[in-house]
Amino acid sequence: MKIFVLGGDGFCGWPTSLHLSKLGHDVTIIDNLSRRNIDNELEAGSLTPIRPMGTRLKTWQEGTGRTLRYENLDIASNYHRLLTLIGEQRPDAIIHFAEQRAAPYSMKSSWHKRYTVNNNLNATHNTLAAIVESGVDVHLVHLGTMGVYGYGTAGMKIPEGYLPIEVTTDDGEKIRQEILYPANPGSIYHMTKTQDQLFFAYYAKNDGLRITDLHQGIVWGTNTVDTMADERLINRFDYDGDYGTVLNRFLMQAAVGYPLTVHGTGGQTRAFIHIQDTVRCLQLAVENPPERGERVKILNQMTETHRVRDLAQLVADTTGATIEHVPNPRKEDAENELHVKNDLFLDLGLEPTTLQQGLLDEVTNIARHYAHRANLDKIPCTSTWTREQRPGAPQAAPRHKETV
Ligand SMILES: NC(=O)c1ccc[n+]([C@@H]2O[C@H](COP(=O)([O-])OP(=O)(O)OC[C@H]3O[C@@H](n4cnc5c(N)ncnc54)[C@H](O)[C@@H]3O)[C@@H](O)[C@H]2O)c1
Repeated sequence: MKIFVLGGDGFCGWPTSLHLSKLGHDVTIIDNLSRRNIDNELEAGSLTPIRPMGTRLKTWQEGTGRTLRYENLDIASNYHRLLTLIGEQRPDAIIHFAEQRAAPYSMKSSWHKRYTVNNNLNATHNTLAAIVESGVDVHLVHLGTMGVYGYGTAGMKIPEGYLPIEVTTDDGEKIRQEILYPANPGSIYHMTKTQDQLFFAYYAKNDGLRITDLHQGIVWGTNTVDTMADERLINRFDYDGDYGTVLNRFLMQAAVGYPLTVHGTGGQTRAFIHIQDTVRCLQLAVENPPERGERVKILNQMTETHRVRDLAQLVADTTGATIEHVPNPRKEDAENELHVKNDLFLDLGLEPTTLQQGLLDEVTNIARHYAHRANLDKIPCTSTWTREQRPGAPQAAPRHKETV
């Protein structure tokens, strides 16, 4: 298959590109390197020494004899170049990772909110509009997030995208249907992903586009078998307060002797998936497209759920690290349950890689090996979800219940 990987220089996109290339697909990476520029802005780079794109491609070619193509392109602003590439190359599938993906980064300031909205919504919409305008029958596979569902459930398992409902008409007839699960975004970043869902529903309905939307959990781990093959292929590892995601951040903190910073009570339950399973899920999604005219195919791309304080305890028990509770920068319930269906990927043959000691050790070893590259000042999360949460901000008056 001819496959475009939008965002193929990133944490999920790079190992996915290698995996698909190894399987014999003709892969073109499209990436504007904005994530590397954000490293410059935040003065916090990947813990692992990721190489320039040219070195990555040359190393892959030398090691496997396979060619990965690369286009440096901002898909949110350079619509016509994207359209031309789709028209000329006629890809069978486009995998879309190319969005600003950190919730804390999206909440840093009004500039960061606007950047995230402009980038993510235009990236997704330009891709959809270009597929329609090109007339090419492309299967679009998008990386969404479990966060579109919000983090609470009404005691039920979160279904895969669609909620069965029953409505009673004026005549008393009961009609059953499935609607998109009500969106409940917890940050500007998550809000862009909920908007993406509406774009997809519209383009699938109006233009018959074939679209798969993967609601992914938090990805942990660093390398896949392919990125481990040569140090010059190494994957990125984010540990800073904006981009570092929870389990990887704990493992890195333990490795450099920094207390594990648990936000709030640590009672938040989150969904997780290992990076090796991410690339396998992408392969399964690409190989199993929906039919033309079918509704958007939504799959929950996660393998397990864990409470944050339990993860901190697990890492502390195995490494001897200490745990420190810090104020939660997010605006969310202190505790939540999360039960999630993931039958669709299991039915397609996914064999989940669950949290095993060996894999935790792999991340810890990577973190120890590159610990000298860490800037410990960058570990705390400095973003806050509201003005009142900013250090030194006047506290909002306590809310009183209405008495009437
Ligand atoms: N990492 C996770 O834990 C996680 C969890 C759930 C969902 N996701 C989703 O998976 C996708 C990939 O995440 P990631 O962790 O690899 O992020 P990442 O930031 O490492 O990679 C995203 C890549 O997209 C590129 N990009 C961004 N905007 C672009 C644009 N306008 N034009 C061209 N390239 C652009 C960036 O330069 C970067 O290389 C994201 O959409 C994210 O929301 C990630």
